[in-house]
Amino acid sequence: MKDKKIGFAMTGSFCTFRRVIDELRILAETGATILPIMSPIAYETDTRFGKAQDFINEIKAITGHDIIHTIVDAEPIGPKNLFDALVIAPCTGNTLAKLAGGITDTSVTMAAKATLRNQKPVIVAVSTNDGLGGSGKNIGHLLNVQNLYFVPYGQDDPVHKTNSLVADMSQITETVHDALMGTQRQPVIF
Ligand SMILES: Cc1cc2nc3c(=O)[nH]c(=O)nc-3n(C[C@H](O)[C@H](O)[C@H](O)COP(=O)(O)O)c2cc1C
Repeated sequence: MKDKKIGFAMTGSFCTFRRVIDELRILAETGATILPIMSPIAYETDTRFGKAQDFINEIKAITGHDIIHTIVDAEPIGPKNLFDALVIAPCTGNTLAKLAGGITDTSVTMAAKATLRNQKPVIVAVSTNDGLGGSGKNIGHLLNVQNLYFVPYGQDDPVHKTNSLVADMSQITETVHDALMGTQRQPVIF
């Protein structure tokens, strides 16, 4: 993927940040140019899973680029046709709902709108406790959207978190590779 420019957007599923950043490193090792994006809450919030500034420093070190975290910074993605593909990993239930509802009020939803406008693939790695609840209809809607692909996902803890769905982050790079060829990586549900 040496010649590809990939947007990599993170939203506020903080418990998956460690796993996702490890996979970001693997994606970067393919030689692709990676432009990082964070939703405002992902960019600004310290949680028990880590400090925002530590994650920011690590992402900048891996990608070599400043992080797009405002709508103003994300706006040129459309007119300048900046990305060959956009990854949203992790993708919260909140951002899933916005994507399904056509709402553009964060850096990440702005990047998604811009990428879809250019008919380039958007690859979503869900991570939400209500994937089989309130977010179910949004995932169903997005499964039917052209140029939108899913990193294969499943129930991470069916006994204790009956509605929770999480993507297998270790499949991000392969899913991007397939999406660039117009194919959904299978099986999409495990
Ligand atoms: C510690 C912590 C962990 C969270 N984990 C998740 C999660 O795994 N999935 C999710 O959908 N939302 C999670 N949230 C809630 C989102 O951060 C919240 O809905 C936020 O508005 C998402 O904004 P964004 O989609 O623009 O990043 C978490 C919040 C906190 C504080």
